[in-house]
Amino acid sequence: MATTGRACLQYLLHLAQDNLDFRLPEIAALVALRGKPFLPTENFREKSPFWRLDGLSEADICGIMSRSVCAKSAFELWGQGRTHSELKTSLLNYPSEKMSPFLQKDSTYRINVYTFNKTLEFADRIQRIDTMEYLPFEGTVSLKNPQHIFCLLEDYGTDPNDIPEQPNHVYFGRWIADGQRELIRSHSVKNRHFIGNTSMDAGLSFIMANHAKVKKNDLVFDPFVGTGSLLVACSQFGAYVCGADIDYNTIHGRGRSSRKNQKWRGPDENIRANLRQYGTEDMYLDVMVSDASKPVWKNAALFDAIITDPPYGIRESTRRTGSHKDITKPPDGIYVESHVPVSKAYHLSDIFADLLNFSAHHLVMGGRLVYWLPVYRSEYCEEMIPRHPCLRLVSNCEQTLSSHTSRRLITMEKMKEPEDLENLPHLEDPCFVPYQGHNAFREKYFSGLNKKSGKQEDDKTNASAETLI
Ligand SMILES: C[S@@+](CC[C@H](N)C(=O)[O-])C[C@H]1O[C@@H](n2cnc3c(N)ncnc32)[C@H](O)[C@@H]1O
Repeated sequence: MATTGRACLQYLLHLAQDNLDFRLPEIAALVALRGKPFLPTENFREKSPFWRLDGLSEADICGIMSRSVCAKSAFELWGQGRTHSELKTSLLNYPSEKMSPFLQKDSTYRINVYTFNKTLEFADRIQRIDTMEYLPFEGTVSLKNPQHIFCLLEDYGTDPNDIPEQPNHVYFGRWIADGQRELIRSHSVKNRHFIGNTSMDAGLSFIMANHAKVKKNDLVFDPFVGTGSLLVACSQFGAYVCGADIDYNTIHGRGRSSRKNQKWRGPDENIRANLRQYGTEDMYLDVMVSDASKPVWKNAALFDAIITDPPYGIRESTRRTGSHKDITKPPDGIYVESHVPVSKAYHLSDIFADLLNFSAHHLVMGGRLVYWLPVYRSEYCEEMIPRHPCLRLVSNCEQTLSSHTSRRLITMEKMKEPEDLENLPHLEDPCFVPYQGHNAFREKYFSGLNKKSGKQEDDKTNASAETLI
């Protein structure tokens, strides 16, 4: 039986069925962003598109939906049950004072029917709507522009090879808001001004910005910025953005184009122009050519979020400035002018250790680091996730790329200043970066390649795999 008082209403989220692993952490981050400390997860089912939420207000739900790319729609839940008969009982028990403002005589309304894992004939849909007559609708039906939209949702489970005759669960509610799935289309890299071989998919960029709890007026940094896809997403949520990349051509928008029919990048193909394309140029601070392995920032907590997609060395090399040869420091401490830094390999384990150290120093307290970690699936275990005593692990979500490989979206939050660690062993101590096996990822990636096609064997992803490397 539903409780009284609008604050205690129950809401139903209808979640998208892609990027399943990212949905719970996204909603949890958006709830936390609204200052709500706790998100009840007992009704969350890993593969189900439906999630009943308690303890939130309609304003919270609207706030979440104004940001979520994992949720399609949200409803104020009026009733639910395992059968239509249970739904009817539940709806008839729902306090009438909560329904009546939306059922008034002078109002207009429409009832939608949504089925998951089954397609209903038109006649069956009409029949479903007709059966809802036991609710005291007094307004006028308006299909085009109704004031209130109600929805009957039927869940036929998640197995397309075993669709039951009757739904496993049915819900009825008042539609409140849609999520931001449209951003995935409007920001597709296919239509983006400046792109590269490793430009991050729009949907995943927005998910990363949400996991990072990016908000208006935040300062966000991407140390491996590439073509700035992550900055595009963060600027869309009102953050000021900046980035760095070791590649001069990428930062200056020069060199070879990644487009099929274009040899060289055109004028104004750069990150600033990408933000201009989406109307967020005001949020662009700057980008610079810089090597992530070399600290160039003043030692201060500057950034509200660090969000990045480090290189894995598959499509672009993981290099850093420097030489394998020992360059002995001259006695006067000044290098001769002819000393030009060359580049040497930048091993993945070092990339992650540097990234975590950098984040510990330059994130504000409570600020988040969100980044991708490539893994060889058969060997994956929790110990592979790089740790840092100043950062707590918030979430760790898998995106499968092939039968052999996946990448994990790691979200960490700063909870301690590095200065507080003075009495602890040095951060480079292996106890903080116990696992060194990331370096073998490249080798293993290529060992899974189909020699003839040059493609990863059993590669299930298309656009996503494109963005891996
Ligand atoms: C996977 S890409 C990032 C793609 C980016 N998220 C985008 O949407 O275009 C990794 C980037 O890291 C850069 N990179 C490689 N080694 C680096 C280093 N030592 N310091 C800074 N950037 C580096 C590469 O030039 C590349 O642009």
